[in-house]
Amino acid sequence: MDTAAESAHPAAASGPAGQRVTRPGVFADTRALRACWHPVGFSADLADGPRHCDLLGEALVLWRGPDGRPRVLSDLCVHRGTALSLGWISGEELVCAYHGWRYAADGRCVAIPQLADPGRVPAKARVAAYRAEERYGLIWVALDEPRWPLPEVPELEDGDWAVVSAGPYRWQCDAARQVENFTDFGHFPWVHPGLLGDPARPVVPRYEVRTAGHVLRYSIVRPEAANSDDFPVFGNEQDGPPQRHSRYELHLPYTIALRLGWGGERGMVYFFASQPIAADRCAGYVVIGRNYNLGQRAEVIQEFEDTIFGQDQVVVESQRPERVPFDLAAELHLKFDAVAVAYRKAMRSAGLAADPPPG
Ligand code: FES
Ligand SMILES: [Fe+2]
Repeated sequence: MDTAAESAHPAAASGPAGQRVTRPGVFADTRALRACWHPVGFSADLADGPRHCDLLGEALVLWRGPDGRPRVLSDLCVHRGTALSLGWISGEELVCAYHGWRYAADGRCVAIPQLADPGRVPAKARVAAYRAEERYGLIWVALDEPRWPLPEVPELEDGDWAVVSAGPYRWQCDAARQVENFTDFGHFPWVHPGLLGDPARPVVPRYEVRTAGHVLRYSIVRPEAANSDDFPVFGNEQDGPPQRHSRYELHLPYTIALRLGWGGERGMVYFFASQPIAADRCAGYVVIGRNYNLGQRAEVIQEFEDTIFGQDQVVVESQRPERVPFDLAAELHLKFDAVAVAYRKAMRSAGLAADPPPG
């Protein structure tokens, strides 16, 4: 296991009037993140009309062509800057609401109705088009050629597992803060007592993180709370104090596949991906698969997730800086924070976190 840095030189400190100030530091690099897949919405929410979303500070419009596949363009008509998401879909094309210019899936404007010959479109009349994929009930977008494929989570595509989605959880922090929170072992008894942790058993057991390329893997057997009457979502009916076996795969930059078991046949997959809306805003999507409780109403697990993410949001949105400082000297890491240490190192060595450009 990596030895955690023991000294702290906080990137956030108190300013003269007691306000928090953020010093320059190493943060997620929004330019480098363009070459990764990111979730931008649930499939089910992209139905008949175009929809706006933001990714890495860029305004996008999502829509489905007649073949049902998702398409994504810049949400800014080249004519007068109107949001194309205000428009509508006509056959293979997206029509701007202001003057009816028609755009093809590759971003080319193909008709301008104000012209005597609407097809005589100047070459400059086009908007940026991006790649989109649909998988695990989510729409994914990469703004540049993606460096890595989407993670493989066969359980979510196996018809024998029940799959429920929850979220999106929109937080005022960067996606890295949300990812680190999802995988932070020390906080469960404090932030989620009785739901995910047992305050009488706060010690984090030893674990090791292995990093291979852009994927971190680690497993832990840790104490958890007994199933609550309000949220009977876990499969932990074993003897003695409940223990949870968790196997994590953290795929850079912001996707986690967590496989849970309790020593028996029951299995659960938590798939979590955070959308970097902007440098300091994110939205978390959760897709959960289970091979038990197949008939349980989706709302039971959704209300549980809403509660958990609500408890986390208060804490994480108070963190300063709002973005994970990837310099290891910037926060105090102990041994049980080994995931955060390995994550921060991996993001830097993959070139996904960098010093801000001068000026
Ligand atoms: S602003 Fe889109 S057609 Fe004029
Ligand atoms: Fe949490």
